[in-house]
Amino acid sequence: MTDRYAVIGNPINHSKSPLIHQMFAAQTGEDMSYEKIAAPLDGFAATIQRLRNEGYKGCNVTVPFKFEAFELASEKQPRAVTARAANTLVFAAEQIIADNTDGAGLVRDIEQNLNVSLRGKRVLLMGAGGAAYGVALPLLMTGCALSVVNRTVVKAQQLAANFAPHGNIKAYAYEDLTGLPFDVIINATSSGLSDELAPLPASFAPHALAYDMMYGRATPFMQFAKQHGAQVADGLGMLVEQAAEAFFIWRGVRPATAPVIAALRAR
Ligand code: ATR
Repeated sequence: MTDRYAVIGNPINHSKSPLIHQMFAAQTGEDMSYEKIAAPLDGFAATIQRLRNEGYKGCNVTVPFKFEAFELASEKQPRAVTARAANTLVFAAEQIIADNTDGAGLVRDIEQNLNVSLRGKRVLLMGAGGAAYGVALPLLMTGCALSVVNRTVVKAQQLAANFAPHGNIKAYAYEDLTGLPFDVIINATSSGLSDELAPLPASFAPHALAYDMMYGRATPFMQFAKQHGAQVADGLGMLVEQAAEAFFIWRGVRPATAPVIAALRAR
């Protein structure tokens, strides 16, 4: 019987996840379906209950339900615990298991696809909201020296204090970054959504990688980084890699991501 999966969000129409998982399934021969489901804002738990009743095997969760998904789960993987949010649920017999594959997806895109090893590198993470929490643990696990910067400095300090037991992490205000050299700068703010640029000093080293977790267009951050000579990447690779990690959790098979990234770029 075909195993059923879905991605749940609100809104969800724009989601590329069904296309990605359908490509993974075709490539690996896994007998599964994957659809998108819009849950009402006050109806996430009821939607999960319905899917479980109907025999779905698991789901992905996106905005704005990642926190609720984490709360609702009965078993939580460490990378979901540190993120305080889940993007992947597994429906087991009695349990709902929560995981978060966003950070693993980011690290894999940077290290495998962009071929930039993070061990020992000076990495700047911009933002201290949900997106930053989601990726901080897998970033620290690479052995990089992580700096977090946020417009509201106290939130950067809280994030750094939270993750300090897991690795080398410091908090900064934007104005304190002047002259600090970073090898990799990751934009985990939502500033690109409003076409704003975080107040970054223009201190990109020539070899630096500027990575925006958003995808679909060149954000002000990407334009700024390019003007200052950095190598620039958007978050499309991360999107495919976080999906591949979820696919692996559900199916125990790692799909090849390069052809899927290429197919999405060509669209
Ligand atoms: P998400 O889940 O996308 O991380 P969030 O939790 O609302 O969303 O966090 C948004 C992040 O983007 C925050 O770190 C926010 O900074 P503040 O905490 O100071 O609000 C950051 N952000 C949003 N717009 C920004 C801008 N124009 N410049 C700099 N940072 C910005």
